[in-house]
Amino acid sequence: MKVKILNHPLINLYMTMLRSKNTQSTKFRYLARKISSLMAFEIFEDLKVLPKTIETPLEKYNGVTLSDPKPCVISILRAGLIMIEGITDIFDVVSIGHIGMYRDEKTLKPINYIKKLPSDLNNRQCYLCDPMLATGGSAVSAIKTLKDHFASDIKLICLLASDPGIKKVQDNFPDVEIICAQKDDKLNEDGFILPGLGDAGDRIFET
Ligand code: PRP
Repeated sequence: MKVKILNHPLINLYMTMLRSKNTQSTKFRYLARKISSLMAFEIFEDLKVLPKTIETPLEKYNGVTLSDPKPCVISILRAGLIMIEGITDIFDVVSIGHIGMYRDEKTLKPINYIKKLPSDLNNRQCYLCDPMLATGGSAVSAIKTLKDHFASDIKLICLLASDPGIKKVQDNFPDVEIICAQKDDKLNEDGFILPGLGDAGDRIFET
């Protein structure tokens, strides 16, 4: 099964603060960004590099350099923006794409409103970022968009995923690996993750 739940003590510590209803917007942004940074080590575990020999002040060293084209991180707007900040704090030699969508509050279906993606997605490692994987509708729609642009190497990166959301992505796209900081079991009737963290976008942007 292509799901990696990080459950690292540091991440769990910050996720507990993030989930708390007493955490206000400024701190919420700080925590979401920090957790995303911590996730970068796992996210880029399979980053494609090529051998490169350089000279240290003393002698040759057989190191590595990033392969071309560089990877692409894609934010599902709005809430994914904060993850891009945290991830690029650690590794910023990336192209950045945006897919704008919001979830209709009644139907829970994603509504698309913008799309800006780098070219050549077919050759790139694509890291699709959204803090929340709830019903999975938004992620499935965004992955479909990436595949319509011929992306073939896609990872979905979330702070919090639900079991139903994971299942939906896996059923639709078994090739897409999901990496999340934590996982919750269920959703309420409004499609919110339980116990969850509320609405990430509203908490980040104070809307
Ligand atoms: C939230 C979240 C995901 C989506 C998850 O975004 O950031 O994009 O809902 O729900 P799903 O898995 O059921 O599709 P929202 O629609 O609130 O938009 P926002 O980021 O602009 O707040």
